[in-house]
Amino acid sequence: MTVRARLRHTKRGLLVLAATVTLALGGLLASGATPSRAATQEPCDIYAAAGTPCVAAHSTTRALYAAYDGALYQVKRASDGTTTNVYPLTTGGYANSATQDSFCANTYCTITEIYDQSGNGNNLTDAPAGGAAGGPDILANAAAAPTTAGGHKVYGVFISPGMGYRDDSTKNIATGNASEGEYAVLDGSHYDNGCCFDYGNAETNNDDDGDGTMEAINFGNETTWGYGTGSGPWIMADLENGLFSGSAAGYNSNDPTTNYRFTTAMIEGGANQWAILGGNADSGSLATDYSGVRPSGYTTMKKQGAIILGIGGDNSDSSAGTFYEGVMTSGYPSSSTEASVQANIVSVGYANYTLPSNPFTSGATISLKATTPCCTSDYLTGDYPSSDEVGADAVTSSSSTTLKEDATWIVRPGLANTNCISFETDNGSGDYIRHYNFELYLEPNDGTGQFALDATFCPRAGNSGSNYSFMSYNYSYKYIRHYNYIGYVASDGGSNTWDASSLWYEDTTWAVATALS
Ligand code: AHR
Ligand code: AHR
Repeated sequence: MTVRARLRHTKRGLLVLAATVTLALGGLLASGATPSRAATQEPCDIYAAAGTPCVAAHSTTRALYAAYDGALYQVKRASDGTTTNVYPLTTGGYANSATQDSFCANTYCTITEIYDQSGNGNNLTDAPAGGAAGGPDILANAAAAPTTAGGHKVYGVFISPGMGYRDDSTKNIATGNASEGEYAVLDGSHYDNGCCFDYGNAETNNDDDGDGTMEAINFGNETTWGYGTGSGPWIMADLENGLFSGSAAGYNSNDPTTNYRFTTAMIEGGANQWAILGGNADSGSLATDYSGVRPSGYTTMKKQGAIILGIGGDNSDSSAGTFYEGVMTSGYPSSSTEASVQANIVSVGYANYTLPSNPFTSGATISLKATTPCCTSDYLTGDYPSSDEVGADAVTSSSSTTLKEDATWIVRPGLANTNCISFETDNGSGDYIRHYNFELYLEPNDGTGQFALDATFCPRAGNSGSNYSFMSYNYSYKYIRHYNYIGYVASDGGSNTWDASSLWYEDTTWAVATALS
C-alpha cells in the first residue's frame, strides 16, 4: 500500500474520531493541563475537525497528523549522489534524525524534498529560476539546523541567501480570492533584510504577476514595503509587490517585533479580510497583530496556488531564515482553531540542541586541532601563513608565546547571531576570524553587518562523525576547512580548489584542545 493511500484511509477514520477528540482536548485545555505528546490530534487533525483542513503540511521535525507515518523529507549525499527518506520515529511522532546522521556520515547532505503530509502531493523541491534570480536555487544543508522537539534531536531547514524550495504544480491550494490559512514555526533569531523569506502561496510561473498574486507568511526585517514596531523581525504578509504589516503599506504600529527563538507565525487570508497572528512557539497564546480589510489594490486577491519556502514569488532569494514546520489550509481558520494549533505547537517543546560536552561557551578559550591524518599536530592559527591570514600551523608547548596566542581562540557570542559563535584571537589584538572571498582572515571588527555575518560560525557535530565542524552562518553549505594549510570556508565539492571533496569531511572536522596560551 502506498503512503498516500494509507494516509487517506487513516484520515477517513480520523474524521469520525475528530469530534470526540476535540471535546477531549477542549477539556484538557480548560483544566489547564498540557496536552500530552500522545495527543491524538496534531495540527492538521485540529484544522480538519474545524472544517478548515490542511491542504499542504510540511515539516522536517514531526508528523503534523496523528496518523501520519509517511516520509517527512528526503536527503541527498554528496559522496555518491544517492538519497534516503527520513520518517517519523513513531506514527504521528518526531523525525528519526538518526537516519540522516548515519546516511550522511563522512559526507555532505542536502534536503532535496520536503514531503506534503496532507495527501495532496504538494511536495517542496528545489526552486527553479524566476524573474528575480536564476536557478535552480541552492538546497539547504541538511545538518545546518539541529534542534530538539519533544526531547528528540531533529533538523530544521536553514535557508541562507540563494536557497529556496517551491512547488508550482499543486493540488487543492487556494486560488483567486478563495480563503486560506497558513502557519509556520520559525527561528526568530535567524532572519535578514533581504527579499524574501516566505512560506505560502505564490505564482505558478516564478514571476511577479502583480499585486495580489501571492499570499505568504514573510519573516524578516526588510523595510522596503512594510514594517512594524522596534527593529524587527516582523511577521508580515507577502501579497506581491509588498510585504504588509497591517491595513496599508509602510509602518503599522500594531505589528510588533517578534523574535522568539521559536516563533509561531500565521497569516489568514479571506475575501477582503486578512490577519497576522504571532507568538512564542514554546509558550503562551497568539497575539493578533492585525485583523481587518485588505490594503488598497489587494481587495480582490488573485492567488495562483504555488507554494514557496525561503524565497519571494519571483524567486527573489537574498533572504535567510529557518523553518521547522508549516501548513496551508483550505478555508479561513477560526481564532479558536488557531489557539488549539498554537497549544499543540507549544506542547512540542522546541528547544536548542546542545552539542555533546559543548566547549563553546561564551568566554571560553580553546585551541582547535586539525583531525586529518596528515595534520594532527596542526592548529587553527591566526597570522599564518601571512600576517592577516588564518591557517593550520604546527604548534607545540615549546612554541613561542606569540605563536601559542595565535593558536588560541576566545569564544564570543556570534556577532550576527548569539546562538552561534565568533572567534576572537587571544593575541591581544581583538581581531576576529572572518571569511572574505571564502578565505579566512584575522581582522578587526569594523562594525558592519557584513563583517558580523562573515565572522559568525555555528558549531555543529563534526562532519567526520566525531569532534566539531564550524558552519559559515551566511554560507551555510560551507565549513571552516584547512586546505594546503590555509584556512577557508569550503563546500563538499564546488568551484574553488579548496572545495575539493577529497578529505573534505576530515579537513572540516576539528578537535577542541586545551588552550595553548
Ligand atoms: O512582495 C515582495 C516581493 O516582490 C515578492 O516576493 C516578489 O515576487 C517581488 O519581487
Ligand atoms: O567570503 C565570501 C564573501 O566574500 C563574504 O561574505 C564577503 O565579505 C566577500 O565578498
